[in-house]
Amino acid sequence: MMNEVLRTAILGAGQGGRAVKELLASSRQVVVWLDNDPKKKGSLIDGAPVDQPEAYEKYAVDGMITGTLNRDSADALEAQMRALGYSGPIIHGVDLRDRWDIRLATLRLLARQIEARKVEGAVAELGVYQGDLARELGNLFPERPLYLFDTFEGFADEDLTSPAEQAQGRRWDFSDTSPQQVLSRISHPERVVMCPGYFPETIPREAVRYALVSLDADLYKPTLAGLDYFYPRLSPGGAILIHDYASRQFEGVGRAVDTYCSEHDLWVLPLCDFHGSAVLLRQGG
Ligand SMILES: C[S@@+](CC[C@H](N)C(=O)[O-])C[C@H]1O[C@@H](n2cnc3c(N)ncnc32)[C@H](O)[C@@H]1O
Repeated sequence: MMNEVLRTAILGAGQGGRAVKELLASSRQVVVWLDNDPKKKGSLIDGAPVDQPEAYEKYAVDGMITGTLNRDSADALEAQMRALGYSGPIIHGVDLRDRWDIRLATLRLLARQIEARKVEGAVAELGVYQGDLARELGNLFPERPLYLFDTFEGFADEDLTSPAEQAQGRRWDFSDTSPQQVLSRISHPERVVMCPGYFPETIPREAVRYALVSLDADLYKPTLAGLDYFYPRLSPGGAILIHDYASRQFEGVGRAVDTYCSEHDLWVLPLCDFHGSAVLLRQGG
C-alpha cells in the first residue's frame, strides 16, 4: 500500500542496533527497541522506548530487525522471539554487514577521487594488524608508497589510559601478526615502507606528504598522536578514514578525534557503517 509506514522493532539497543536504525528507509519507523538487558528498560532512544523482548506484543509491530553484528547472537535473538510466539518477519542487520561494506565503498570512492584529482602523496595506515585494510589500500593505490605503522605486538601498556581501555586491552590480543606476514599479502610489496614499533616513535625521519590515511589504532593516545602527525601532512583533497569513531567499545577513538577537531576547528563526516567510521577531509588553501 502507498505510504504505509512499517512499525518496526529493533532487537538490541547497542551500537549495532543504532547503526541499523540509521540505515532504515523512511518507510520503516522504529517503535520499540527490544533488549534483554533489564537496566536499559524504560529508557528512550531517538524517542522510542527500550523494553524487554517479552513485551513485544504491546507494540503491534509489522517486522523486527536484529541489531547485532554477531551471527550467533542474531540467530539466538530470532529463536528467542519465535519461542515467545512472534511469527512475523525478522531480518538480520548482520546480513547487510556480510554482503555490503560501506567503509570499503567509501574508501574506493575516495581513492577514485584522489586519483582523478591528482591529490599528491603517499598512503598510510596506523593500526595494521594482519593487513586486511592495508591490502585494500595497496590494491587501490598500486603506484604510491604505502606506509604501515603497527607495533605488530598488539597494544602498548602505556596506551591503556582509562579503565575502559584497560578492559579492552585484556580482551583483544593483536600480537598474532608480523611485518613479513602483512607484506606477503600486499600486491606491490616493493612500495611498502614498514614502520614497526610504537607509534609515534616510528614516525619517518623524512618529510612525507599523505593523500590518504587509515587510522585504526583503537585507543585514545595513538589516535590523537596519529591526527597530530598525519593531518598537517595531508595534501589538500586528502582524507583520513577513521575507524571506530562512534564505537562504544573503543570510546577513546571518538574522544581523541573530538579533542583534535575542536582544538583545530575541524569537523568529521560520520559514516553509516557498522564500524562507526568517520572521514576527515583536508580542504584546499
Ligand atoms: C583493530 S587493529 C587494526 C586492524 C586493521 N586495520 C585491519 O584492517 O584489520 C588495531 C591495531 O593498532 C595497533 N596499535 C595500537 N596502538 C598502537 C601504537 N601506539 N603504535 C603502533 N600500533 C598500535 C595494534 O597493534 C593493532 O594491531
